[in-house]
Amino acid sequence: MQPRQSSTAGSRRWWQGAVGYEIYIRSFADGNGDGVGDLLGLRSRLAYLADLGVDLIWITPFYPSPMADHGYDVADYRDVDPRYGTLADFERLLAEAHELGLRVLVDLVPNHTSSGHSWFRSARRSRDDPYRDFYIWREPAAEGGPPNNWVSHFGGPAWTYDEATGEFWLHLFLPEQPDLNWANPAVAAAFDDILAFWLDRGVDGFRIDVAHALVKDPQLRDNPLRSAAPSNTSAREIWSAHEHRYDLDQPGVLEIYQRWRELAAPYDALLLGEVYLFDPWKVARYVAGQQGLHAALCVTTTRTGWDASLIRSTLREGVAAGNGYLAWPLSSHDDPRAPTRFGGGERGSHRALAYLTLLAGLPGIPFLYQGDELALENGEVPRERALDPVELRNVAGRGRDGSRTPIPWEPGAGLGFTTGEPWLPFGERRGEDTVAVQDQDPRSYLNRTRALLATRHSSTDLSGEKAVEWLASTGPIVAYRRGNVLVAANCGPDRDLLHLPQGDWEKVFVSQDAAQLRDRRLELAEDTAAVLYARVVPEAHGKVGR
Ligand code: NOJ
Repeated sequence: MQPRQSSTAGSRRWWQGAVGYEIYIRSFADGNGDGVGDLLGLRSRLAYLADLGVDLIWITPFYPSPMADHGYDVADYRDVDPRYGTLADFERLLAEAHELGLRVLVDLVPNHTSSGHSWFRSARRSRDDPYRDFYIWREPAAEGGPPNNWVSHFGGPAWTYDEATGEFWLHLFLPEQPDLNWANPAVAAAFDDILAFWLDRGVDGFRIDVAHALVKDPQLRDNPLRSAAPSNTSAREIWSAHEHRYDLDQPGVLEIYQRWRELAAPYDALLLGEVYLFDPWKVARYVAGQQGLHAALCVTTTRTGWDASLIRSTLREGVAAGNGYLAWPLSSHDDPRAPTRFGGGERGSHRALAYLTLLAGLPGIPFLYQGDELALENGEVPRERALDPVELRNVAGRGRDGSRTPIPWEPGAGLGFTTGEPWLPFGERRGEDTVAVQDQDPRSYLNRTRALLATRHSSTDLSGEKAVEWLASTGPIVAYRRGNVLVAANCGPDRDLLHLPQGDWEKVFVSQDAAQLRDRRLELAEDTAAVLYARVVPEAHGKVGR
């Protein structure tokens, strides 16, 4: 297989026009039969990814970890957990990925370490320990409770009391994930070295975990309450009842990325932030002016329901705010898979591919999560087999296990994922969910996704910088045009029509065989999307509408 060419023309960076793919390593492919995905398994599937048409893969954390949050609790930033392989395995993986034309982002977790990290173990020893100030410690409040009202994303207060030293430590996630103190220059210096460690090994960049939270209010002021949190409610609702004025999105955070941008520049590496803020204009601050991050994941796309006006406004706002610097995930390991979110069953899967079609034409980086190309729904994980700390710690609500079940590669025991016992149940997977079966069917989700990504790559209007011109501003069809390409999806309950701008349009991609093009009218069945090319460049755009 020939590696795809990366873009080097002019000032264009290699990630502009690229398509991303998230690998949740525990569940992708198991190479050693212990039931947990690993680097060896991933290496064996790289050719599949190159063939799918993705350009860059983000691998979730594979560093040594006690796995309190499945690797997002890092105990050593410069090594590989033995369950996932070795550093040498990673180097081989990187070399093979590069041969196939795939870029590799590793997941950097700078907001917190594991409580098992040597820095934290040292910091806990005494108030005078040289690593004490790597973390955020405070005396109890006057009545003996936590120093402020901040809550953890995963339930309960964001503070845990350390008996031995008589202070609380801050953790925006689990107590086993103590937050680093980015006001301490020694923390910044330690991370400079960590970035250099991976860049020197040849990684193409970083996905930066919780990129909006590294800096905290220096006075650690209480967050205002938006509403009284109902009792007996889920951690997510309690968290949402607070206005995160002082724990997230603080002014100084961009200085960290300015510094990293300089570090990354000689390596031509990408800084892709997980900026988990729902206002795209706030996210935009992180990628503005070519000073901070190069790109940020737009988290709202993974939470949008099947509703034309919501989808339209989410994408329109994101495009306007992100100015070409957003990545557009369809699903992720933190959210329900798109087909499940969109109602499940065949209908949910059709909708997910239609939605992916909309994402695939946007400026920025469309992002698939492993299994999106198969239109996988969430796997069913019985409560007694739950492993996600979010579920284990909260009585109300299910956790994230359902979107993390292993990938079904082929029919049969272990589904080609493992020869052992999978660490999480697969859920109900049928033969037609597997890669092997879908590969043989030209109309499968897998082959349609391949065709969609090929469409993006073959069009310089889609993979380039052409501006987005939104069509139909109301109604069930969400549509836009970029140069000579038009992308439309029917997100309503019935068949509907889009009147096309002037031009000689032809269909180049349909998400299912339910799109008809006649007399400058595109008729789309519900849950269906299409990409059209104009064969002749029209002089001026005609009036467009429903
Ligand atoms: C975001 C990650 O995607 C999620 O899986 C993790 O639990 C939190 N950050 C904490 O690191």
